[in-house]
Amino acid sequence: MPGVEVRVEGLTKSFGRANIWSDVTLTLPPGEVSVLLGPSGTGKSVFLKSLIGLLKPEKGSIVIHDTDLVRCSESRLYDIRKLFGVLFQDGALFGSMNLYDNIAFPLREHTKKSESQIRDIVAEKMDMVGLKGDESKLPGEISGGMRKRAGLARALVLDPEIILFDEPDSGLDPVRTAYLNQLIIDLNAQTDSTFLIVTHDINTAQTVPDNIGMLYRKHLAMFGPREVLLTSDDPVVAQFLNGRRQGPIGMSEEKDTAQAQREMAEVEELSGLPPIKPQLEATAGLPERKAVGRRQRRVEEMMHTLPPAAQEAIRRSQAEQQAPQARPTAVGAAPYGAPSTNGPATNGPATNGPASHDLFSPAPEEPTQTLPRLPDPPTPVSPPEAPLGQPVTPPTDSRPPSGPTSGPGRHRFRS
Ligand SMILES: Nc1ncnc2c1ncn2[C@@H]1O[C@H](COP(=O)(O)OP(=O)(O)OP(=O)(O)O)[C@@H](O)[C@H]1O
Ligand SMILES: [Mg+2]
Repeated sequence: MPGVEVRVEGLTKSFGRANIWSDVTLTLPPGEVSVLLGPSGTGKSVFLKSLIGLLKPEKGSIVIHDTDLVRCSESRLYDIRKLFGVLFQDGALFGSMNLYDNIAFPLREHTKKSESQIRDIVAEKMDMVGLKGDESKLPGEISGGMRKRAGLARALVLDPEIILFDEPDSGLDPVRTAYLNQLIIDLNAQTDSTFLIVTHDINTAQTVPDNIGMLYRKHLAMFGPREVLLTSDDPVVAQFLNGRRQGPIGMSEEKDTAQAQREMAEVEELSGLPPIKPQLEATAGLPERKAVGRRQRRVEEMMHTLPPAAQEAIRRSQAEQQAPQARPTAVGAAPYGAPSTNGPATNGPATNGPASHDLFSPAPEEPTQTLPRLPDPPTPVSPPEAPLGQPVTPPTDSRPPSGPTSGPGRHRFRS
């Protein structure tokens, strides 16, 4: 059974007279990984906070399980929030609690698990994000990347159905970003949960999600399957997804139209449609990711509506995917969705043994080429952070986001 669908319609959010975005309509397909892009300040974090009811949009609806979160009662909202696991942009750890207590917090708050059960779950998740041994450290004593990973462990501790990550990769080094991306894909293969990830990392946007959305100029510029966005001739989408300086987006978000048009003409002369990068696959040994087939069927249905060049690029990438290729045999063997280096792997059933699921820690020795755990650089002690669910202080509508239901962990990341 695929995860939970999130249907957003005509959503509009302002703070006082400042409109952040208007009329945002999209559906997060159940059980698929979606990424939200957009220049800094376009309201991506505000969008995530709206999805869990931390901020209240003035217009529109957010429907989950037939409940409109914009209008439902506080108690219903509290229940629906239990479906979510959220990693806020700043980690939002309790500054006065050590990492163990921070990660255990949702379990203590929302379940009736015994301390020994909690100990097992926390140990498993801390191990998974490479924080084993750091249980007693305070958030102010660790690096930004470690705080991010602690927030990640806490977001996953209750096995959520809907996972929202706000820039999980910012502050992570490239190797850990690669592990994180593999973790996202592997988690999705195992749980069929619905993901929405905000990122500025182009490689992540190109290789991880099933769907890509982009906020720009106070609107949702586009939302759809990766194949469609990665072949889009929309100047804003193409500029962003290729990380180009040339295009309508400037340092202060919008450029002079004439200059943008000149630059676009230059880019068009220089390059045709770039090939679609293959999508990162679940590690061999894990279940096949069902999201891939569901998305590909949608792409097929909309194919005739796409420009000829896009259709051609999509067909080419499909043909390449059908070429038999081995899937990566170990986490870390293909850190950047490395099928891209020598052609895509198939989405066929896994044939190799179970994968190592500890994605951030040292791995067994050869022959699995897992990368060693890297030391975190020392960082200055940061001021205490906002507690869980209160990463900002929204005027009146802030309340703790909660983690999802109790129930035994559905997957263990270390055998
Ligand atoms: N609680 C709040 N009250 C008033 N304004 C806010 C609040 N939260 C966010 N904003 C404003 O909303 C706008 C969008 O902010 P948001 O943090 O969502 O941007 P973003 O797209 O996530 O940017 P970045 O990529 O830099 O994280 C900003 O102008 C910000 O100042
Ligand atoms: Mg943000």
